Amino acid sequence: MTGAVLEGRDLARFYSVKRGSFKPEATVKALNGVSFSLQSGRTLAVVGESGCGKSTLARLVTMIEHPTSGELLIDGKPAKIGDRSLRSAVQIVFQNPYGSLNPRQKVGSILEEPLKINTDDDAATRRSKAEAMMARVGLRPEHYDRYPHMFSGGQRQRIAIARALMLKPKVLVLDEPVSALDLSIQAQVLNLLMDLQKEMGLAYLFISHGLSVVRHIADDVMVMYLGRPVETGTAEEVFTRPRHPYTAALLSATPIADPDREKNRIRLQGELPSPLNPPTGCHFNPRCWRAQDKCRQVMPELTGEETHKFSCFFPLD
Ligand SMILES: Nc1ncnc2c1ncn2[C@@H]1O[C@H](COP(=O)(O)OP(=O)(O)OP(=O)(O)O)[C@@H](O)[C@H]1O
Ligand SMILES: [Mg+2]
Repeated sequence: MTGAVLEGRDLARFYSVKRGSFKPEATVKALNGVSFSLQSGRTLAVVGESGCGKSTLARLVTMIEHPTSGELLIDGKPAKIGDRSLRSAVQIVFQNPYGSLNPRQKVGSILEEPLKINTDDDAATRRSKAEAMMARVGLRPEHYDRYPHMFSGGQRQRIAIARALMLKPKVLVLDEPVSALDLSIQAQVLNLLMDLQKEMGLAYLFISHGLSVVRHIADDVMVMYLGRPVETGTAEEVFTRPRHPYTAALLSATPIADPDREKNRIRLQGELPSPLNPPTGCHFNPRCWRAQDKCRQVMPELTGEETHKFSCFFPLD
């Protein structure tokens, strides 16, 4: 697709892991066959349970790691580790606002550090840029000289967002940016992110365990299961007409206050299988109430329209 700021083509990332001294090394397919295209001003939500490969995708996209195969394009150019100009185009905000900020650095120097490393800005310019960004994310001028421990979780996440924006990236990777925060604070931070996106034309790759968090922020959704996309499409399509049983189960798991719907809730059976030894055929088959013999033997391809694809032999209507 043309005009994408971020594009993944059949991305894969495999890891070799030791399983004790006498067993041969095994391969974890943390990510396998992931393609997507993200435009300026839009949000792609990547959703799935723990271990499905979300953070692995984040590491590829931020050029912290190379893909095992496949191609990543940033602003239409093939991404290579070490390419500084591309690297600053994609910035990341992590889940844990307590671990991701240096406790010995004041807010001002946290925000100015990326400028120090990547630009020729003098001290006065750096300071004025940091102050402007603080105002933009809802921090007060006196916060400039404070340390991270003096802030609440929500405010720390504002600092992390401000830091990520200092180099004017085109893409922000948000790895569960609100899941460590209280529910009331989550909405504030999500609203801030939506405002900043509009103002700055940012593209977001928004990673989340669940679908409910991304309902209001996502334009497109990719649902992942054990390293593979099982359903992709516009948020509208995926939320109103989920076709893959796993997506339906995730949607059904989102908190609702309706007792009638409570009765019809789909409860996922069984545990998530080991990624070292995924089930043959469709990886979801042991937990799927619609699975038939074919699903246990053949891996379904991701098929459908550009606006909605799913990998299932017996999709929901
Ligand atoms: N460096 C590594 N070496 C070996 N295995 C790894 C490595 N990094 C990730 N994995 C494995 O790859 C799979 C995907 O991990 P990843 O961290 O991407 O999942 P995730 O979706 O971000 O999970 P969570 O929701 O818990 O953050 C997991 O099975 C994980 O154990
Ligand atoms: Mg993760």
